Amino acid sequence: MTSTDTPAVHDPDELRASMVRALREQDGVTTDRVAAAFAMVPRHRFAPAASPEVAYNLHRTVPVKLDQRGQETSVMSAAHLQAVMLEQAEVQASMNVLEIGSGGVNAAYLYELVGSTGSVTSVDIDRDVIDQARRCLDEAGYSQVRTVVADGENGVPDGAPYDLIIVTAAAWDIPPAWIAGLTEKGRIVVPLTICGTTRSIAFDRDGEELVSRSYSLAHFVPMQGEGAAEERKGMLRDGVALQTDDVRVTLDVPALNHALDTPKTERWSGAAYDLPDELELFLTLNLPHPARLHAAPSIVDSGLIEASALKGVPALVGRDSIAYRTRRENEETGGFESGVVAHGPQADSLADQYVDLLRSWAQKHRRRGAATFRYRPGPAPTSLPTGTVMRRHGVVAVAWD
Ligand SMILES: C[S@@+](CC[C@H](N)C(=O)[O-])C[C@H]1O[C@@H](n2cnc3c(N)ncnc32)[C@H](O)[C@@H]1O
Repeated sequence: MTSTDTPAVHDPDELRASMVRALREQDGVTTDRVAAAFAMVPRHRFAPAASPEVAYNLHRTVPVKLDQRGQETSVMSAAHLQAVMLEQAEVQASMNVLEIGSGGVNAAYLYELVGSTGSVTSVDIDRDVIDQARRCLDEAGYSQVRTVVADGENGVPDGAPYDLIIVTAAAWDIPPAWIAGLTEKGRIVVPLTICGTTRSIAFDRDGEELVSRSYSLAHFVPMQGEGAAEERKGMLRDGVALQTDDVRVTLDVPALNHALDTPKTERWSGAAYDLPDELELFLTLNLPHPARLHAAPSIVDSGLIEASALKGVPALVGRDSIAYRTRRENEETGGFESGVVAHGPQADSLADQYVDLLRSWAQKHRRRGAATFRYRPGPAPTSLPTGTVMRRHGVVAVAWD
């Protein structure tokens, strides 16, 4: 090996300083307080099995635990996502904070932010995760952080009320214990999954309800235990799947699979395809029968389904028909135009409904942060208006500016 082949060995302190600079440049960190927390905590010591280069990479997670199928059930979250959520949380000195979903490093950041007059409790459903977090916290000098093994669905009543609850697994609902465990002006920052897409939402308490202040695209391992998602999935054929968590959707797998063998209907919106994550959220919440369509690369290569479905795309599902978003290049603008592909006997009507939504978003709501989420605990109304999502313990209602 020549000297130029030798991998550079980086000092963790240098890696940490450069991570903080990059977090600022990439808008993960926007305040000096959060920057100081990231500069202080020796992140690599919470990821003993990973190299410091990986631990300090802004966008990489570090695996902590896999289930029997090899799926990750616990990871050290990526630094950029942690920074975004800590900024959303606006953590102040002396706060009493509960973290649901543990690992150690995020609890250490929280401790840096609340200081010695505040307190941090970190709960995880998995004893192995807590054992590692406890060890790392003690070794890195954060023995003041309290760690608890429990299903976070029930909060940690011993220690409530909390000024802030920060959830670091993808939640499907907001259980009553979280709202009951908040102070009157408390905040919950939670990655909430709706029909297969997740946003980290900062909610403020508004009486018994919650109202959002900000939201941001997020990816997390799913919540386990009592609060696990109620989702339905249908494999239409090898490499094509539909998932939904909406009670209004009938997943008739044979009929929908048959629809894919019928000719394609296309509609073009004339509207620009941009701000894809915001458009995706708008569609997911405003399609009257929403599901998420996934297609494997081989299916896309065969031409059956468009590339938009490779990472999952909001779909409008009828009993025997389906419509989903696509895009094409717009030579005049150099960008893309959004459009719809539909199959099945109701293809025309589904495509019309879908394309109307694409136009409505482009004309009225096309900007970042246009949605306001409200969580209303209690039973759902008998008919759910569009923009409303039913959950086990309440309803998520989303309004668009
Ligand atoms: C992304 S990891 C947490 C990352 C961590 N906060 C960090 O510092 O990087 C998500 C964790 O949530 C935990 N979890 C999943 N369901 C849970 C539940 N119902 N209650 C508490 N913890 C849960 C998992 O065991 C996993 O360790």
